[in-house]
Amino acid sequence: MDRIKLHDKEFILSITPSQIQEAVSKIAAGINTELAGETPLFLSILNGSFMFTSDLLKKITLNCQVSFLKLSSYQKDTSTGKVSELIGLDEDVSGRTLVITDDIVDTGLTIENVIEQLKPSEPKMIKIATLLLKPGIFSGNIKLDYVGLEIPDDFVVGYGLDYNQLGRNFEGIYKIIS
Ligand code: IMP
Ligand code: MG
Repeated sequence: MDRIKLHDKEFILSITPSQIQEAVSKIAAGINTELAGETPLFLSILNGSFMFTSDLLKKITLNCQVSFLKLSSYQKDTSTGKVSELIGLDEDVSGRTLVITDDIVDTGLTIENVIEQLKPSEPKMIKIATLLLKPGIFSGNIKLDYVGLEIPDDFVVGYGLDYNQLGRNFEGIYKIIS
């Protein structure tokens, strides 16, 4: 299928399932090499990253753990702006090697927010793995340790990514036709 319609918008295949798997394998190889000797705890940011995390972990050869987190839609106003609370973390992350997995880094605000909420627990290290990056938009000052593919600024869906909750189920990644 090279075209899909979700709600009122049309999308065209942009990254094939095999290109995605190649990118996932590249990330896994980096983690397997660089984190050799560690027992990392993967923290998957729901909902978008469920497919990426699933495929990535099948390629990880280290002993590891995984936990699925969500940013609450509840937002409280603080002097620093809006904060979505990280929910679902049962493990004690102090002293742990963490790998945060996300589907896409756009502005980088989501991932920065997650890092800020983990830091007070003093993990040993925090690595970031994202399948996609929009370098044209990303302005963050955080280091993205593992990036699968860099893409243009177009809105994309599929492989976990949604447009108003539709499109997460597709094996490929589709970009919006404007
Ligand atoms: P950021 O905080 O701007 O980096 O945005 C990251 C989050 O926005 C991702 O985890 C996605 O849930 C969502 N997002 C950003 N770009 C896209 C896109 O092109 N398609 C679908 N979701 C996106
Ligand atoms: Mg997301």
